[in-house]
Amino acid sequence: MTLPSRWPAVLQAVMKGLPRALADRHYPQWHPAPVTGLMNDPNGFIWFAGRYHLFYQWNPLNCDHRYKCWGHWSSEDLVRWQHEPMALMPDEEYDRNGCYSGSAVDNNGVLTLCYTGNVKFDDGSRTAWQCLAEPNEDGSFTKRGPVLPLPEGYTGHVRDPKVWQHDGQWYMVLGAQDLEKRGKVLLFTSADLHNWQPCGEIAGHGINGLADAGYMWECPDLFALDGTHVLICCPQGLTRESHRYLNTYPATWMSGAFDYERAAFEHGDLHELDAGFEFYAPQTALAADGRRVLIGWMGVPDGEEMLQPTRAHGWIHQMTCPRELRYQDGKLWQTPVRELEQLREDEHHWQGVASNAPVLDATRLEFWLTASCVDVDFAGALRLRVDDNGLRLERASLQNGEILTRYWRGEVRHLRVLCDRSSVEIFINHGEGVMSSRYFPDHPAQVRFEGASDITLRYWSLRSCMIE
Ligand code: FRU
Repeated sequence: MTLPSRWPAVLQAVMKGLPRALADRHYPQWHPAPVTGLMNDPNGFIWFAGRYHLFYQWNPLNCDHRYKCWGHWSSEDLVRWQHEPMALMPDEEYDRNGCYSGSAVDNNGVLTLCYTGNVKFDDGSRTAWQCLAEPNEDGSFTKRGPVLPLPEGYTGHVRDPKVWQHDGQWYMVLGAQDLEKRGKVLLFTSADLHNWQPCGEIAGHGINGLADAGYMWECPDLFALDGTHVLICCPQGLTRESHRYLNTYPATWMSGAFDYERAAFEHGDLHELDAGFEFYAPQTALAADGRRVLIGWMGVPDGEEMLQPTRAHGWIHQMTCPRELRYQDGKLWQTPVRELEQLREDEHHWQGVASNAPVLDATRLEFWLTASCVDVDFAGALRLRVDDNGLRLERASLQNGEILTRYWRGEVRHLRVLCDRSSVEIFINHGEGVMSSRYFPDHPAQVRFEGASDITLRYWSLRSCMIE
């Protein structure tokens, strides 16, 4: 049974919301963000028939998580995006409480969406269906319905299918919670995307020596990279440590050997994928030239998100920039995709004592910084300290003004910082680490360098590049 249409309400929300969002001084000028309402996870990220497609979790009706559609953008170059028709709305019984996260595949030339139909019951419990949808000529999608019910042995928290093809077979990883409330990643296989066979648990609590690995693992993504396999996922309920896992939920990665025959993944330790204040639910796609590209949600659920000031302007959250992944020396390296260099305008160089450095306009800025010890102040709203211990990023809590800190430990040889109006992405040592964070400065926002040590700067202002 199809549920009553929300199209009129969505259209009204967009008509009313778009001018308000664009007029907000914090609205990003070169990162994808929702035209109104709340955006969270990237979904269905794929290079297909000459274009990148990026779908996203979207509540166009309100700045909360109560209603979830799939919005859709596409791009030729990962820099200039255009709006596509909205792909999925929760209008069937099997997805009535949200078209939750998932992925897209090229099924013999058909751009097929694999997503979770989320269903909540009055008693507070829920179930989940893994579902398919296929495109129509006009860019809309037709749902093909559920292909996998809730597997036995798990609570209703089973979601976020990431599907790929290998040697003519389809594979799917799912984030899950078992009946003992422990987080897991499940593997399934299929010959046709419609009939799925379980292959068991490949990661999570109690697997490969992982103890206390949280109560739910969301948004898994498993792929081959530079001679190894990498599993990215978001474990909820990890214990906070002194210098890592400090956000409500982290995004993590682990590398190892994935054996298709045995359906087993032997992996090493869990690592945090991004050490900043906002980063969650990333997803990767394979580019035309074989690069593995990642985009994350520059937000985190259940923390201070609902206190972000952009909600007063009817929108909230943005994506990270697309990042190219590399695996080298046992580490996962992330660098902004080279296509982003198109945004650079005039280049400047400067060298000298930090406190004499020019004050930079942070509205749209890329700067490279070499310094052994320096404080970088972003419009009084965010502060970065570089010293022998590594990096400390500080900002005030939106709740009570308390100073919150995030850390990256290690020797800092080089920083590359990308700024949009209300975000910074700090790439450490050409990709060894990243810290992504939102901040809400008074505009025009300025970056100041403080301290008596010598620093070297190279910087560009960036072009604005709004979704068309
Ligand atoms: C991650 C997540 C996913 C879910 C989606 C719902 O942020 O909780 O697990 O599919 O968001 O919007």
